[in-house]
Amino acid sequence: MKKVAVIPGDGIGPEVIGAALEVLKKAAPGAFEFQSVAMGGNAIDKYGEPLPAESLKTCQEADATLLGAVGGPKWDNVPPEIRPERGLLGVRKGLKVFANIRPAKIFAPLASACPLRKDIADKGIDFVIIRELTGGIYFGKHEAFTTPDGEKAARDVMEYTEHEIRRIAHVGFKAAMGRRKIVTSVDKANILTSSRLWREVVEDVAKEYPEVKLNHLYVDNASMQLIRVPSEFDVIVTENTFGDILSDEASQIVGSIGMIPSASLGDNNRGLYEPIHGSAPDIAGQDKANPIGTILCGAMMLRYSFGMNSEADRIERAVDEVLNDGLRTGDIFTGSEGTKLITGSQMKDAILAKL
Ligand code: IPM
Ligand code: MG
Repeated sequence: MKKVAVIPGDGIGPEVIGAALEVLKKAAPGAFEFQSVAMGGNAIDKYGEPLPAESLKTCQEADATLLGAVGGPKWDNVPPEIRPERGLLGVRKGLKVFANIRPAKIFAPLASACPLRKDIADKGIDFVIIRELTGGIYFGKHEAFTTPDGEKAARDVMEYTEHEIRRIAHVGFKAAMGRRKIVTSVDKANILTSSRLWREVVEDVAKEYPEVKLNHLYVDNASMQLIRVPSEFDVIVTENTFGDILSDEASQIVGSIGMIPSASLGDNNRGLYEPIHGSAPDIAGQDKANPIGTILCGAMMLRYSFGMNSEADRIERAVDEVLNDGLRTGDIFTGSEGTKLITGSQMKDAILAKL
């Protein structure tokens, strides 16, 4: 039996994880042993730290890790070194999952939830953001200090080594080879030295993939083009912070942040799977959260970590079907004809029924 570490986390995390586990158990009965792991605000409350050593060890020893979301206003004032988000970064780094794959695809029945003009959306939107996940500002030196004049100051360092850029670039080009063979590398090379290295290394890696067309965009321009001509994007490869920002933008382009799963992979297939949304404390405990992002994480896990493609297909098909039936949680409900507003657990039950 394969071991899966499960981090429910905070806020809506436990709700969406509960839904995803039920779906996994139905789609692949008996295939997994699930081990629940404390991480985030709940771990701070219980153990005084967001990522106890035991929690990380359980994830490292598991065949894959499934994560809900962490954080919330309750822990806004804890010292920065023990914030819930630190636990999240610790899991990503500790599992060495440097490549975060965030698909952005418009589901046909959700076309009306796309806020873009119809003629733009109708051209089709299907791209994937490959976000570098264990480098950049997130992991550079963070420092609060006082200037010689006695003024408060702070700095966060954006740093990349050549091998970090090279390996994420390969992930991007390989993904493009299985798709429409277009890579857009996003940087800020007109300003940042780390971006100039990024661009140089990506261009070098591109030589190994002569069939793939490589474009470079500055991140500000990329954020604009994503809205103007989203159909032209296939694979976007970018550094950690830019990927964080652009993937939230992408989630709205395709309808809702509640719909998007992600897979984080390293050199082996022991991935980390987490929806791209946060812990949404404003709707936690009200059964309003859309479980689809996390349920689709389960499908990605089956596919990438366990090669269980037919089970993954079944889950994805079940999601398509409930959307086709017009069922909508609040985040994707636009009131259009033939649709019905339901709760998170009703959405889960409808998906279970389709399986
Ligand atoms: C994400 C989230 C996290 C990130 C936060 C919660 C630290 O926004 O996964 O996109 O910035 O990576
Ligand atoms: Mg984010």
